[in-house]
Amino acid sequence: MANGQQLTAVKIMTLIEEINRRRTFAVIAHPDAGKTTLTEKLLLFGGAIHIAGAVKSNKIKKGATSDFMEIERQRGISVATSVMGFDYKDVKINILDTPGHEDFAEDTYRTLTAVDSVIIVIDGAKGVETQTRRLMDVCRMRNTPVMVYINKLDRPCKDPFDLLDEVERELQIKVRPLAFPISSGPSFKGVYNLYEHNISLFTSDERQTANASTVDIDDINSKEIDAIIGERYANQLREDVDLVEGVYDDFNREDYLAGKVAPVFFGSAVNNFGVRELLECFIRIAPSPRPSTTETRAIEPEEAKMTGFIFKIHANMDPNHRDRIAFMKICSGTFERNKNYLHVSSGKQMKFSSPTAFMAEKKSIIDFAYPGDIVGLHDAGNFKIGDTFTEGEKLKFTGIPSFSPELFRYIENADPMKFKQLAKGVDQLMDEGVAQLFTSSLNGRKIIGTVGQLQFEVIQYRLEHEYGAMCRWEPISIYKACWIESDNAEQLADFKRRKHANMAKDKHDRDVFLADTSYALALAQEKFPDIKFHFTSEF
Ligand code: G4P
Repeated sequence: MANGQQLTAVKIMTLIEEINRRRTFAVIAHPDAGKTTLTEKLLLFGGAIHIAGAVKSNKIKKGATSDFMEIERQRGISVATSVMGFDYKDVKINILDTPGHEDFAEDTYRTLTAVDSVIIVIDGAKGVETQTRRLMDVCRMRNTPVMVYINKLDRPCKDPFDLLDEVERELQIKVRPLAFPISSGPSFKGVYNLYEHNISLFTSDERQTANASTVDIDDINSKEIDAIIGERYANQLREDVDLVEGVYDDFNREDYLAGKVAPVFFGSAVNNFGVRELLECFIRIAPSPRPSTTETRAIEPEEAKMTGFIFKIHANMDPNHRDRIAFMKICSGTFERNKNYLHVSSGKQMKFSSPTAFMAEKKSIIDFAYPGDIVGLHDAGNFKIGDTFTEGEKLKFTGIPSFSPELFRYIENADPMKFKQLAKGVDQLMDEGVAQLFTSSLNGRKIIGTVGQLQFEVIQYRLEHEYGAMCRWEPISIYKACWIESDNAEQLADFKRRKHANMAKDKHDRDVFLADTSYALALAQEKFPDIKFHFTSEF
């Protein structure tokens, strides 16, 4: 073999090994279920941090929503913890953080486009909550493999079988418990690991360490169990395990990878309990980087040529450096520092001299990155969410949709001298994915659509502080924005004529119907059967 060929062969081998040992995922939850706590404990296991309390919650506490300093702080922190990488038993784990506040849900949805699997945290006393349901809808759209961690077993919880039924019903996914709790609240004894056949005994003094004592159980009928947890709980456990084995099919990894069944674990994150079992199982069954879809073809991670897309853009909160960090997910090949890549949307070649990787609390400049990794790129305001980088091929990744916003306001210029600044600011904030911009077909006025109230405050604040522009909000009554299309050109033209006052264009000049009420939307759907009304921008 010629030298060049040998080198290529080595590179490909390394690439395949690196792909196989990567797990890129997000922890998602309704606020307060324990996402931050669990993330921290996972990092603790990986040795990425050494003491509990190192990962700051990036959520904005209730009541502080109008405190702009709090917003600044929150944004500053979330950049540091946006991606947390660490090695555990030779597996490279990348946890992508998602904002805790539900007003930033859109950010979370987008982050989910960059992960290969998710862990959902559920509060065992509260069960499935609204935000969990919504996030699961996004996972379902992409068949993302899901594991469930039912948390706070040290508090009185709902009955475990009721919880499992609730997850199945509310999240519309089959479940398969791989661990089962022995009581909860003050009498919580521990969890029985159905696949390792051992009991992890609960003690609440494990906060700082990563070890729980476990007892291997050869036979669930062994009297040893009675001696450890008491006869009453031992009998209950036997009944429960019988029921689990009788009711649920054996765990099937293929079904998990296809997003059809979710393995379920129970524990108490704050006590670092049940986390090791979760992590051990995770590294065994969770997928390494999966193929990605583009408008033209599927991209396999093993392909030698580098491809990647930007799923998140973060403004630098230092007022002296208003540059941004763009987060790129590597989809295939090996990313190299100082190598030229095609920025597909501008057609320009670009190279990066200081791409960053994120290891726990630290950022560091890297020379190489592999599929599944997230690389932070310095951005002087040229990048947009969804931008693709390749070694020359003109690709556009799909599956990074905008979601129909829920709150709308007209945005007006409040300082006539600063028109340009306002336009630039709005443009860049929209590229960052802070909100969506629509232009009314009726009067050409600009409408901003968001998923949360807080975004309006963030936009106004950032326009003023980063762009020196002033804006004013004016009310507009819209129930929902939906993207419309139809093969029936005549019906589409008729619809647009009749609904002229409710029509708008999005940033990409596509037709959007702004329905005043749910009734108006239902009526439109009924009267114009050939028109498709889409609630995400990708269809
Ligand atoms: P989030 O990121 O999903 O919003 O939740 P987070 O981890 O911040 O946890 C929310 C609250 O729940 C925290 O309490 C946390 O300590 C608590 N918690 C997490 N896991 C468990 C658990 O297993 N058992 C119990 N009993 N509580 C748990 P907090 O009072 O809001 O904050 P803090 O003062 O404890 O930090």
